[in-house]
Amino acid sequence: MKPRDMPTNHFFNQDIVSIKDFSRQDLEFIFGCTDRVSALRPNEKAELGKGRTLGYIFYEPSTRTRMSFEAAMASLGGSSIGIFDSKSSSVEKGESLADTIRIMDLYSDVIVLRHPLDGSSRFAAELSKNPLINAGSGSEEHPTQAMLDLYTILKEKNKIDGLTIGIVGDLKYGRTVYSLLYGLANYNVNIHLISPPTLSIRKESIYDVEKKEMKIFEHEELDDNILTKLDVLYVTRIQKERFPDPQEYEKVKGTYTVDSNTLRKAKPDVSVMHPMPRMQEISHSIDNTKNAIYFKQAAFGKELRAALLALVLNENPI
Ligand code: NCD
Repeated sequence: MKPRDMPTNHFFNQDIVSIKDFSRQDLEFIFGCTDRVSALRPNEKAELGKGRTLGYIFYEPSTRTRMSFEAAMASLGGSSIGIFDSKSSSVEKGESLADTIRIMDLYSDVIVLRHPLDGSSRFAAELSKNPLINAGSGSEEHPTQAMLDLYTILKEKNKIDGLTIGIVGDLKYGRTVYSLLYGLANYNVNIHLISPPTLSIRKESIYDVEKKEMKIFEHEELDDNILTKLDVLYVTRIQKERFPDPQEYEKVKGTYTVDSNTLRKAKPDVSVMHPMPRMQEISHSIDNTKNAIYFKQAAFGKELRAALLALVLNENPI
């Protein structure tokens, strides 16, 4: 494409707080950019973040999100600084989120924040002058996870429209589920939500999703009838840390396990996804099947986040 034919980059210098702020066109632009950035030679890619610094602040544990952002920034030729163990920073002394954000804003060009409170990223984005990316806000949202989930589905199935997608596990506290549902609401898909009644979706958090074309069905059991319909089975972890009562967690832990028996009953080409970390909800015995795409999904996370950073940091990255 000639530069003048390129769609305008609306994301330059913008915050990424909620997937709700992204239209289908926006998402498709990001997916196209992910393809193009991934195809660059390492030296070309390393121009996109040269001399720039990513500042991460993680008030909750993370493996993939933080490391993939850091690896993505390194691949763009930039560097990363940050806090991932609040005990080793002034957060331990009682420094506020607001002051921590203001300081990171002075030292970096883009901030990546994970925090246990809903609304934390919106609040932080209002304070920071530089763009802020939500890497998980309470049980509310995890927008970049949803983008990489959608990108993975697109890569694996060559389309999103027309698919039947099952989402199983902790639908009450799992923030990836809410962002994914809002992302999927841009497509014509059938959704089956499977959870124990105590972990069913929070209706008040998806009320406007239900106005879209997407059809949603709710179930308690992942039975054979549902399994035979699914093109994608998105499995989630029971979010132990968000349970107000540990006894309630004990009642539901280990409710679902996806294993070779599950795969035998499903479509031969069903794709099993998981934002990870997985506990016992996916058996290690299926890791080497063509259906298990959760490691591929984690790999796409780095690619998609590299494209997002390139878009946020450059007016016309590619
Ligand atoms: C998820 C999260 O933090 O919400 N992890 C991730 O970013 N891949 C899912 C989880 O912790 O269960």
